Amino acid sequence: VAETQADAQKAAKSIKIQYQDLPAIITIQVPGLDLLHVGGQEHFYLETNVTLAVPRDQDEIEIFSSTQSPSQTQSCVARVLGIPSNRVDVRVKRVGGGFGGKVSRSNIVSNVVALAAHRRPVRCMLDRDEDMLVTGGRHPFCAKYKVGFSESGQVLALDVTYYSNAGNSMDGSILVAHEAVVHMENSYLVPNIRGRCIVCRTHLPSNTAFRGFGTPQTMLVCEDWISAIALKLGRAPEQIRELNLYSEGDRTPYNQVLEGVTLRRCWDECLDRAKIHERRAQIQDFNRQNRWIKQGLAVVPTKFGIAFKELFLNQAGALVHIYTDGSVLLAHGGTEIGQGLHTKMIQVLSPQVKIHVCETSTHSVANSSPTGASMSSDLNGAAVRNTCEILNQRLQPYKDRDPQGNWESWVKAAYFDRVNLSANGFYRAPELDYDSKTNSGRMFHYFAYGVCCSEVEIDCLTGAHKTLSSTIVMDVGNSLNPAIDIGQVEGAFMQGVGLFTLEQLLYSPDGVLLTRGPGTYKIPGVGDIPTQLQVYLLRDAPNDKALYCSKAVGEPPLCLATSVFFALKDAIATSRLEVGLSGPFQLDSPATAERIRMACADRFTKMCPVAEPGTYKPWAVVV
Ligand code: MTE
Ligand code: MOS
Repeated sequence: VAETQADAQKAAKSIKIQYQDLPAIITIQVPGLDLLHVGGQEHFYLETNVTLAVPRDQDEIEIFSSTQSPSQTQSCVARVLGIPSNRVDVRVKRVGGGFGGKVSRSNIVSNVVALAAHRRPVRCMLDRDEDMLVTGGRHPFCAKYKVGFSESGQVLALDVTYYSNAGNSMDGSILVAHEAVVHMENSYLVPNIRGRCIVCRTHLPSNTAFRGFGTPQTMLVCEDWISAIALKLGRAPEQIRELNLYSEGDRTPYNQVLEGVTLRRCWDECLDRAKIHERRAQIQDFNRQNRWIKQGLAVVPTKFGIAFKELFLNQAGALVHIYTDGSVLLAHGGTEIGQGLHTKMIQVLSPQVKIHVCETSTHSVANSSPTGASMSSDLNGAAVRNTCEILNQRLQPYKDRDPQGNWESWVKAAYFDRVNLSANGFYRAPELDYDSKTNSGRMFHYFAYGVCCSEVEIDCLTGAHKTLSSTIVMDVGNSLNPAIDIGQVEGAFMQGVGLFTLEQLLYSPDGVLLTRGPGTYKIPGVGDIPTQLQVYLLRDAPNDKALYCSKAVGEPPLCLATSVFFALKDAIATSRLEVGLSGPFQLDSPATAERIRMACADRFTKMCPVAEPGTYKPWAVVV
């Protein structure tokens, strides 16, 4: 703890620590074993983790933190300081992006800063390299699958074992494994299914929540066996996908009956808008005329279950004050992390009156759930609506008495009549009663659906690629705010494109993260956006299970980025045909230039010596 950042850094450098270096386990990949591997991902929020702690009075402390979970931060700080929660106020105005990375890991910073702020305010903001080094990211996954199917391409049975790299502590790893397994069939009816996920403890920083929460990893694996079936049967993958799509009334492996399934509507509209049959033919033509440049195409659906797995998290609170000048102050339990939550909450309250959303704070709304699972507008919105109902009821007599009046005059009249113009509202989501012993009951409130078609072009000699187009049809119910929702679809999709095609974490064999900033870790840039990116929100698809018939949007579209990965695989498959290679082949995620190049097998790739496991020490380990 120092007066200036420079002093603190100087002091930290002067500390000499003697370590005994022990062998580091950083990857769960087993050399020589052919498990499909899906790499991890760094959150790369624009604002790194930061906390300012201010001691107040004798035994109170105020915490300004970049967290998605103010209540969790509050209870952690209380425990660290040995004081009750009612002495800790955690305040969050807005966060410069979280993406799941600030649900629990933000506590690393807030706990120590709170402890240091014994007599004076203390602030700490991690540098980018520190943040990348210590806060963990998406869980890398390995998977081994066996799939049974008929000659027509109908999937009959599936057995998958997943391994996830949890890092050095539990954090949310079991929950991530759970979400991963219950999304393993993605959008397809699989009559016989077995899935298990083995959570591996390694010496990496603890991995944590990340947009999609395990589902992007298993959906990539799912689309991999679907595309393997197509390669095996020599059919177009979209035919196999369409054949196996879920329909209304089907049961998931956890026995939830699917209601209001819009998958086929999204599918048909996407195929139509992307002119897929026309494009397939044009791509075939193009590929016949070009030996070293190949194009590929893939259409991929997604189905994403909406719920917090822990029943108790499916609740929210809100607090509204109406002041005598008619202005309204709104507080609710969700945090604004760039997803437009506060804007949506103002819409719920009323477009007509003067509303200000104040910061999220544990003093105004107690025991709030983390902003996550894409559920914040469902939950907090319903709590805000409940608060409005309470206040409207109180104001109703004054409206009835003076129908010609206006908001301000009704508020004034109520105030002079000694009416309480503050109210606290609450919402508890309907029961989720899934029971793993009987494998029955409700696991999710409802599902979000979407379909994406992507076209890519690869350079077989360098492995470089560009995405020519992506066409997305997403079901967000009756959108609360189409501008925000389209932004969320685009943002999630591009974050997925980074995950599946660009972003690769490299560690030294001793366990030092080598990719510690944008110079070595490639996140999507403007040039990585598909030349044509079109997002359509499915029309006339009200969802009676959520606020104003809307649907969650924050995470589901991320998985649609698998369409870019499988379009790449499609292009690579065409290139392999030129040297007589057909049938399934392994391509790990992310599909980097290196991997694309090597998968386009030809006489040049044959010249690359393949080292025997154990015969050489790699300079870097991919995680
Ligand atoms: N959008 C922005 N701009 N920044 C973020 O950090 N987080 C995502 C998603 N969209 C995020 C975002 C994640 S991981 C989730 S769970 C949801 O937003 C959370 O917000 P919501 O519940 O209001 O959708
Ligand atoms: Mo999102 S991973 O649920 O914060």
